[in-house]
Amino acid sequence: MLVLLLAACAPDTQDSASVGPTYYRDVRPILDNSCARCHTERGLSTSFDDPASVQALATSIQARTQAGTMPPPAPDPSCADYEGSDALFLSNEDKQLLSDWADAGAPLGDPATAPPAPAPLTTAPFDVELYGAAPYHPAFDETGNDYRCFVLDVGNESTSYVTGFEALVDNPRIVHHIVLWSVGPSVDLPEDSADGAGFACDGFGEGGWDFFAGWAPGGRPFLFDEGQGMQMRARTRLVLQMHYYESYDGAEEEADQSGYGLHLQDTVETEVFALPLGVEDFEIPAGQANADEEMFVPWSADWGAVTIVGVFPHMHLLGSGFDFRVTHPDGEETCVVEMNDWDFHNQQAVRLLEPVRIEGGDVVTVNCQWDNSATNPNQPVDPPQDVVFGEGTADEMCYAFTYGYSD
Ligand code: HEC
Repeated sequence: MLVLLLAACAPDTQDSASVGPTYYRDVRPILDNSCARCHTERGLSTSFDDPASVQALATSIQARTQAGTMPPPAPDPSCADYEGSDALFLSNEDKQLLSDWADAGAPLGDPATAPPAPAPLTTAPFDVELYGAAPYHPAFDETGNDYRCFVLDVGNESTSYVTGFEALVDNPRIVHHIVLWSVGPSVDLPEDSADGAGFACDGFGEGGWDFFAGWAPGGRPFLFDEGQGMQMRARTRLVLQMHYYESYDGAEEEADQSGYGLHLQDTVETEVFALPLGVEDFEIPAGQANADEEMFVPWSADWGAVTIVGVFPHMHLLGSGFDFRVTHPDGEETCVVEMNDWDFHNQQAVRLLEPVRIEGGDVVTVNCQWDNSATNPNQPVDPPQDVVFGEGTADEMCYAFTYGYSD
């Protein structure tokens, strides 16, 4: 009976592909939404633009998505949902669909059934757009990485407030991720070469640099709610820390001049700050696959309430999981960020759809998990070493850089 009904509804019953998922109707929209930001002609990895090459990669796509390594790990929206989560985190239904499609021999189907591709997102025009002084040609090290910092002068003579920001990525083919730091006027910075070559900064910030924003492919513009903004003191400089990646042989010929667009106001009703919650005193033993450290903070009523609007989870290469939650006096828990896996190259600042309030009596925990074994494919040294807190990429960190406000 059911079969008859289906046959009666489907206009092209001869085409068995119309029953199961097809490339054009079902797979393409998932790839556009979750993969195209890296897998395109001018992206970081193999292009998915051509249907025949996607077809040829079907089993590899199945394997990577089933293993949870593609798209790279991101916060799980079932813990706390955030803006754009559907593009960063693949649902079980979508994973199943990609898998069924591969099992069915990766049928293309009818191009006429393809929904339109999503439009790119931007919050332009900006109040200021800041870029490195000149296009930069990366000098990759033997592991194919180059970390380079550029000083961006906001040029504000009095305090102002950033109400939104957006990474302006010039060359997505080599830009792996970006961290933006805010550096007060009294902190010395290395001389930013006048030719635009910036300075080497193989690590995660320096003393006196305050975390401001982070971006990886798929990262969205960040707009605070009406009336909210982050203070930017007079003559603050921003340091644009670029991580370039040698995505193909010959990538050193590529140049990049990325920057940030800022939305600024002279005053705001509510000042948002970036609070670094995490652990700095730890040691991860060499060889240990399941190491973890926890920040455990009983929130004091004297500190007042803080409302969290966004989070940038941060660890280095050995990270394997991340968990940020608030436990209330009645034992109820609010999950803020949960990641069962980690990819150093896919760090995102996420904007929570529902702000989370922390009050006196709550307990705030940030738990970082690391895999310091020799079998971790991201292990930077051979053999593994004991690892402690530090700014270098071979050191580790454990932070939830938390955007929040007090009231
Ligand atoms: C943030 C960037 C990024 C996103 C998003 C992303 N990938 Fe990848 N992908 C990469 C990079 C970089 C590589 C190459 C390094 C590697 O193999 O891990 C890669 C490699 C792959 C490969 C192996 C390609 C080959 O030529 O053998 C497959 C298959 C793949 N990704 C599938 C996907 C799928 C499917 C999605 C979306 C559901 C996705 N990726 C989303 C960055 C990304």
